[in-house]
Amino acid sequence: MTSICIPYLTSEGQTAKIAEYIADLVIHHDLEAQPVDLKEAPDVDLTAYDGVIVGASIHRGKHDKRLGEFVERNRDVLARIPSAFFSVSLAAHGDTGEAEKYLEDFEQETKWRPSKVALFSGALLYTQYGFLTRHLMKRIAKTKPGELGTDVSRDYVYTEWDGVRRFTEDFLAELVSP
Ligand SMILES: Cc1cc2nc3c(=O)[nH]c(=O)nc-3n(C[C@H](O)[C@H](O)[C@H](O)COP(=O)(O)O)c2cc1C
Repeated sequence: MTSICIPYLTSEGQTAKIAEYIADLVIHHDLEAQPVDLKEAPDVDLTAYDGVIVGASIHRGKHDKRLGEFVERNRDVLARIPSAFFSVSLAAHGDTGEAEKYLEDFEQETKWRPSKVALFSGALLYTQYGFLTRHLMKRIAKTKPGELGTDVSRDYVYTEWDGVRRFTEDFLAELVSP
């Protein structure tokens, strides 16, 4: 059966949620899906899969450096099987120029050109952050475009699940009939 690997890097959990959502969609299409937390399993063997959807979030203007290491280690297989990448950030909500810049920097650094890329809005999880991060994020939310929430007694999730679904279904359609 066609099997899709979904390796991801997450700090506060939103990219993991998106990876799980993608996995559910893949399974709903009668295919196999395996979400993989790259912090726990950095050496996942991609050769066992028919396609890969990689996800990572942005902190302080960059993806986790383990993402570049993962691409480097798997360069050959990523060039051989259909692959897609999604980047999760707050900039994707209202500041797409900035979110595209993160992606361009990443593509420049890794020279990896996935067949499909997407920018997904992440979350502001004030109730999970420590004191300093909470106040830093509130300050950033006030100044950045996109009318980000500033009530630190609650969380804000900006991920557009319909967009995640379209991205996944487009990838699967190309995989099944390239
Ligand atoms: C300390 C910190 C720094 C962040 N820096 C950025 C940033 O530079 N640009 C941006 O667009 N989003 C930034 N974000 C927002 C995250 O990308 C967003 O919260 C995302 O949902 C995190 O995904 P994760 O939970 O999978 O790690 C930052 C978030 C935190 C907590």
